[in-house]
Amino acid sequence: MRRFPVARPAAAQHKAAAMNDAPTPAAPVIPAAYFGERVTWVHHWTDRLFSFRCTRDPAFRFRAGEFTMIGLMVDGRPLVRAYSMASPTWEEELEFLSIKVPHGPLTSRLQHLAVGDVVLIGRKPTGTLVTDNLLPGRTLWLLGTGTGLAPFLSLAREPDVYDRFEKVVVAHTVREVAELAHRELFEKVLPAHEVLGEIVRGKLLYYPSVTREPFRTRGRITTLIESGRIFADLGLPPLDPAHDRVMLCGSEAMNRDCKALLEARGFEEGANNAPGTYVVEKAFVTR
Ligand code: A2P
Repeated sequence: MRRFPVARPAAAQHKAAAMNDAPTPAAPVIPAAYFGERVTWVHHWTDRLFSFRCTRDPAFRFRAGEFTMIGLMVDGRPLVRAYSMASPTWEEELEFLSIKVPHGPLTSRLQHLAVGDVVLIGRKPTGTLVTDNLLPGRTLWLLGTGTGLAPFLSLAREPDVYDRFEKVVVAHTVREVAELAHRELFEKVLPAHEVLGEIVRGKLLYYPSVTREPFRTRGRITTLIESGRIFADLGLPPLDPAHDRVMLCGSEAMNRDCKALLEARGFEEGANNAPGTYVVEKAFVTR
């Protein structure tokens, strides 16, 4: 049952009316390719980064790590970009992580979202950062920069991931400490969680690093891998395609440099229907 009335195309409107859930006059008409959902929570991490949650239609199903097109109705048309779902598949609501670009067509608007606003959620999630695209292995390395953390926020809360891997490393690199979004989730909330706590304890390793201000771990993920520091810090052996599996999600430059580093060590890229030892996706929204 929907919690908020959202205007829908004609057929859906009949259904809504029948459910005594008639659209309010102010609600925008939602194109058929999208669900119209209501914002329930907004959190600004910095002046460059924010998170928001919205209601989720029960018909919206996705695999942890996937993305979908999301956005707003602007001048009667959908203005959408690809966003990874940052919430786990079992959560009642959806969550997203976004940058804010002052003149970015979508993010300059999206950053003003308030509770109760309507957002478009594309009905067809997809993506390559899914465990089915990886061969079985021992340690899963989730390497993200900036908003590239988003798909890993979903994967790291998926019990199935811990059935497949002995260890799950979430390595998040950002410019400033305040951009370590959801640091508390990894450091405090998850290990103490009444259901997930037992599943993740001792298996989930969070490894934040910062490049442009003092922090206990400084430097890009590429440097931390090449120097061996990340392995020494975590007490794990250096990356080896025999037992490690890697997911990459960052800027084009980060993905390119990490790919080169992995392929030099013998890793092979996986895709839908062709699992490999690593997979990669852009941290999408840059505007
Ligand atoms: P740096 O500060 O050295 O540029 P952004 O906010 O621009 O998306 O960057 C997020 C993080 O990704 C920053 O810490 C940035 O480091 C890092 N980064 C940028 N380019 C690369 C790259 N080619 N390889 C690894 N990390 C990168």
